[in-house]
Amino acid sequence: MDQKQIYQATVAHYLSPIREYLEDVTVSEIMINHADEIFIERDGSLVKTPARFADIESYEIAVNNVLQFTGKSVSDENPLIDGRLPDGSRVHVALHPCARLGTVMSIRKYNKSVLDIDWLVELGTATDEAVEYLKIAVASERNMLVAGGTSSGKTSLLNALSTFIPKGQRIVVIEDSAELQLQQDHVISMESRASDRYGRGHVGIRELFRSSLRLRPDRIIIGEVRGGEAIDMIQAMTSGHGGSMGTLHADNPFDALARLETMALMSKVELPITALRSQVASALDVLVQMNRSLSGHRIISQIAEVEGLDDATGRYKIRDIFTLKRNPAGSERRTSLAWTGQKSLQAGHLNEDEEGLVTEKTRRIFESD
Ligand SMILES: Nc1ncnc2c1ncn2[C@@H]1O[C@H](COP(=O)(O)OP(=O)(O)O)[C@@H](O)[C@H]1O
Ligand SMILES: [Mg+2]
Repeated sequence: MDQKQIYQATVAHYLSPIREYLEDVTVSEIMINHADEIFIERDGSLVKTPARFADIESYEIAVNNVLQFTGKSVSDENPLIDGRLPDGSRVHVALHPCARLGTVMSIRKYNKSVLDIDWLVELGTATDEAVEYLKIAVASERNMLVAGGTSSGKTSLLNALSTFIPKGQRIVVIEDSAELQLQQDHVISMESRASDRYGRGHVGIRELFRSSLRLRPDRIIIGEVRGGEAIDMIQAMTSGHGGSMGTLHADNPFDALARLETMALMSKVELPITALRSQVASALDVLVQMNRSLSGHRIISQIAEVEGLDDATGRYKIRDIFTLKRNPAGSERRTSLAWTGQKSLQAGHLNEDEEGLVTEKTRRIFESD
């Protein structure tokens, strides 16, 4: 039996209480708080299930078995464990005493059916007009970040947007744990590596980034920017790797830029703040804000372009292209994403190929006055 078969047999045996949810593609996450308290996320909503492990012992044995497949061992030094199951699902385990009431395990499933862009429109996450705008932005090599809170759908949107990257480009994808599934044929995926139990062998996002620059990429995609690699990304974006993309945790476009600054400062690169700020401003072109409502509905809530720095105040200047507008009473949703009436900074600057992507819906955003 190979590892995968052993895993399947193990799942069938030790994880039988949650097997139903592991096999259900409409379930995206399984959260076990206690042996007898198990939640799932389905279509964006949290639901408590009737499932339970027979007792605490069988739950702990199941967790230990799962951890075996992730190659991590349970030890007192390491009470917070991240891993990946043979089927690609991500597991996070928090052990007592960090988890105060006992072992907590969460499995984020790797569902092969990637949310494609049409499906995102169907779900009400994006509008046709915004999608067509983003298609032009991606094709015309704008540098773009998708911002949002935890589980707001950033990675899923980035994945969907990556389908707009023209064929033939060489794309390097750098991630902490491989989630993106690019459809192009010229993709190099790199994943960071945690150090082993003796503290050896760590390969971080920054090292991967430096290596990736030597691989002659046309574009670089960073799954999630969360540390000093921000400075590498900013510098790559301003030096010939147009069309680079990534996600980051932020509440609005200004917050996204401020966080990039802060993260770049974590890199020990000596750069005056004014110089850094103007690099950030010239690196980033488009910011897409994701939002997750209490009901679990994910939407793009804002799309803005970065204009640069304000001469007088030294602050970022952004131009909102799409924002949420209130719908008439009685509509299915309270708000929807709508064009602000402001033109793209690219208006009048598209080349012939890009011009060909402009449609009836987006003409008013991209035509010059
Ligand atoms: N637009 C969407 N509508 C509904 N569910 C979504 C949407 N985007 C993502 N999801 C689901 O939400 C969860 C988190 O998505 P993900 O893209 O990983 O978020 P993030 O990168 O912001 O943490 C996943 O289970 C995913 O299937
Ligand atoms: Mg993500």
